[in-house]
Amino acid sequence: MTVRNGRDYMVSPILKWPGGKFRLSRHVFDKIVEREEVYGEDWHVRTGQRYHEPFTGAGGMYLGFRKRGLLNSRKKTFLSDLSFHLSTTLEAIQGDSWTEVSGLLGGIKDDYLEALKTELEPRLRNGRPLEERFYYRKRKRFNELYDYIVNGSKSKPDVIEFAALMVFLNKVGYNGIWRVNSSGYYNVPEGESASYNNVHEHDKLREVHHALKDTVIHHRDWKESFRDVRRGDLVYLDPPYLPLEGSKGTFNQYSAVKFERRDHWLLASESARLVSKKGCRMIVSNHHTEEVVRLYSEAAEEESVRCDVYKIPKVHNVNRIGEGRVEINEALFFISNFT
Ligand SMILES: C[S@@+](CC[C@H](N)C(=O)[O-])C[C@H]1O[C@@H](n2cnc3c(N)ncnc32)[C@H](O)[C@@H]1O
Repeated sequence: MTVRNGRDYMVSPILKWPGGKFRLSRHVFDKIVEREEVYGEDWHVRTGQRYHEPFTGAGGMYLGFRKRGLLNSRKKTFLSDLSFHLSTTLEAIQGDSWTEVSGLLGGIKDDYLEALKTELEPRLRNGRPLEERFYYRKRKRFNELYDYIVNGSKSKPDVIEFAALMVFLNKVGYNGIWRVNSSGYYNVPEGESASYNNVHEHDKLREVHHALKDTVIHHRDWKESFRDVRRGDLVYLDPPYLPLEGSKGTFNQYSAVKFERRDHWLLASESARLVSKKGCRMIVSNHHTEEVVRLYSEAAEEESVRCDVYKIPKVHNVNRIGEGRVEINEALFFISNFT
């Protein structure tokens, strides 16, 4: 989707990613403007300052901030994530070979549409074993490539094919779900959607490529990302959501390693410490629950830094035992040394 913002076009992420924040970026930007107008604080990234996203995902917030003019520095932006699949794909789109990714993706889409003529509806076996279907053959190939690349055989054609398959599977897989098993293998079944228009979006790939050009992409844990932060920098944190008590449905397994409750506690205290020690500014997203608010407020108090929390209304499809769909608001924390 490419939406208009005044005269400008806003490019949205190329991948559907659980917890993606592209839509939320408008609300965050509104709060930034409010804080600047009401309190005289400066939350923009100015000359000499850098922007960091240690939990980049598909880059929804980065793309939103960039197009809204928040990032005005010529310094590099640091985009990091622990998902190997994601960082490898973003790097491939960032590089000059994005055109090859796009060409290959177009071919995969055409072959898929051709295959569907004989395979009939997605997910129907049509008398053939499931693994013979086009989608499952591509999924197998994707996992083979993952093995090659993760084990150090990083040939350019393999990476290009991996990135094209990542986009294809992400668009055609069941319900836009992203899931890997404990070995890191993608295991989402084929989707049932009859719309294949957004499988290959050449123009959007080009725009995302341009948006990623001035960034440094890292496959790494958030603790390593914190080491790059300097005085005056802006950090946006969007970790996996803290599981709700009694909820079965909060997704936290983006890669083979889960983000556990203890990781949230450590992240909150290290975040407040980073603001205090380095003098950076930080914005954090999570569910707006008593536990999350307490977590960040207490961590900020401990380090004597300022922490303001906002509640952004949002409905999440969270399955609480016996309650079905539950309304969960989004929390935004602004953590800083502003007085
Ligand atoms: C809520 S998503 C971020 C979504 C992103 N803001 C967007 O708009 O697409 C959380 C991300 O944290 C990443 N992640 C999980 N554990 C991590 C860790 N220990 N260090 C860095 N990233 C991690 C996941 O791979 C996932 O992409």
